[in-house]
Amino acid sequence: MKRKTILVTGGAGYIGSHTCLELLEAGYDVVVIDNLSNSKLEALTRVQHITQKTLVFHQGDIRDKHFLFEVFSRHKIDAVIHFAGLKAVGESCEKPLAYYHNNIYGTLVLTETMAEYAIKTLVFSSSATVYGDPESVPITENFPLSATNPYGRTKLFIEEILRDLAQADQNNPVSSPWKISILRYFNPIGAHESGLIGEDPNGIPNNLMPYIAQVAVGKLPQLSIFGNDYPTSDGTGVRDYIHVVDLAKGHLQALLALFAKQPEQGGCQAYNLGTGSGISVLAMVQAFEQATGQKIAYQFAPRRAGDIAACYADPSLAAQELNWRSEKNLDAMMLDTWRWQSGNPEGYR
Ligand code: NAD
Ligand code: UFG
Repeated sequence: MKRKTILVTGGAGYIGSHTCLELLEAGYDVVVIDNLSNSKLEALTRVQHITQKTLVFHQGDIRDKHFLFEVFSRHKIDAVIHFAGLKAVGESCEKPLAYYHNNIYGTLVLTETMAEYAIKTLVFSSSATVYGDPESVPITENFPLSATNPYGRTKLFIEEILRDLAQADQNNPVSSPWKISILRYFNPIGAHESGLIGEDPNGIPNNLMPYIAQVAVGKLPQLSIFGNDYPTSDGTGVRDYIHVVDLAKGHLQALLALFAKQPEQGGCQAYNLGTGSGISVLAMVQAFEQATGQKIAYQFAPRRAGDIAACYADPSLAAQELNWRSEKNLDAMMLDTWRWQSGNPEGYR
C-alpha cells in the first residue's frame, strides 16, 4: 500500500516537531510548512537525526495562497495536521488583529486550498481555553464554550468555521465530505526522551513548565506562583499537564480514526487531549524537585489576570473513539523537561 503523506503546518514548532517525529516513526511521509516565526529549522534537523528518516520542509506562510498552491501541487497529500498559529495569550490582548489575521485568516486560506485540491481530512489544534472558566471539572466536550481573550476567540471561531464547513457538504452527493478532528489540548509539557527536541520559548516564558526549567538551569532567579488563594487543595492553580509525546501520539490516533471512516462519512468532532488529573502549581514544583534533585526558588505573587482556578479534562471520548490515552506520568514529564533544558540551556540557539 502506498504510504500516506501528511502535511503538517507549523511542524517546526514545539508540538509540531514532536508530532512529525511520531509520524515518521509510524511510517508516514511528512511535508512541513512553517514560516519559522516562532521556531527554528534545527528542530526538524534533529527530528530527522533521531528517526534517521527524512521529511520535506517548505518555508512559507499559510496565508500565502500561491505558496500553498505550490506545496499542494508538488505533493500528493492525504491529510493535513494544522498547528500553525500564534499562541501567546498576553500578546493576543495587545495585538488582536495579528492573532485574528494569522490564526483565522490563515485557517481560511488553508481550508480553501484543501477544498480546491479535494483534500478534506483535517486535524486541528484547539485548546482547553475554549471552555473559558468552566463551571465544574473534569470537563467534557459538550461543556459550554467561551473565550476570555483574543487568542481563545481565534480557537473558538476556527472551531465554529470547521463545524460549518463539515456541516455544509454532509449531504453533498458530488464531493466527498470533510472529515475533521478538533483536538483540545490541555497543558502540554515535557520533551522527547532523547533530550534533543523540546519547547524553546522566545524570551521569558509565559508558561509554568518552561519557567520552572529555566529557574532550575539558572537562567531565571525564581518562580512567581500566581495566586495562593484559589479554591483548590493548596490555593494554587490546578491544570491537566500532558506529556507532549502522548499529545503527539493523539494526532496519529485521530488521523487513523479519520482514515478509517467510510468515504461518504464526514463530520467534525472535538476531543479533549488531557490526562484527566489536575495538578496544582505547588505540586508541580515539588514533582520537579523530586524527579530532578534541583531546588526551585519561588515566591507567591498576585493572581495573573484571566487565570482560572482549575481546569482538567475528562478524556474518555478520546479513549473510546480514538483509542488514545495518555501514558506518561508526571515523573517522566519532569525528567524529560530537565533532560532537554539542561542539555540545551539556550534552546536550539
Ligand atoms: P509553536 O509556536 O511552537 O508552533 C507553532 C508553529 O507555527 C511555529 O513553528 C510557527 O513558526 C508556525 N507558524 C505560526 N504562524 C504561521 C503561519 N502563518 N504560517 C506558517 N507557519 C506559522 O506552538 P505549539 O506550542 O507547538 O502550538 C501548536 C498549536 O497548538 C498552536 O495552534 C497552538 O495554539 C496550539 N495549542 C498549544 C498549546 C500549548 O500550550 N503549547 C495549548 C493548546 C493549543
Ligand atoms: N503559573 C505560575 N507562574 C508562572 C506561570 C504560570 O504560577 O510563571 C501558573 C498559572 O497561574 C496557572 C498554571 O501555572 O495556574 C499554568 O499556567 P500556564 O501559563 O503554564 O498555562 P495556562 O493553563 O494558563 O494556559 C495554557 C496555555 C494556553 C492554553 C491553556 C489551555 O498557555 O494557551 O493552557 O490549553 F489556552
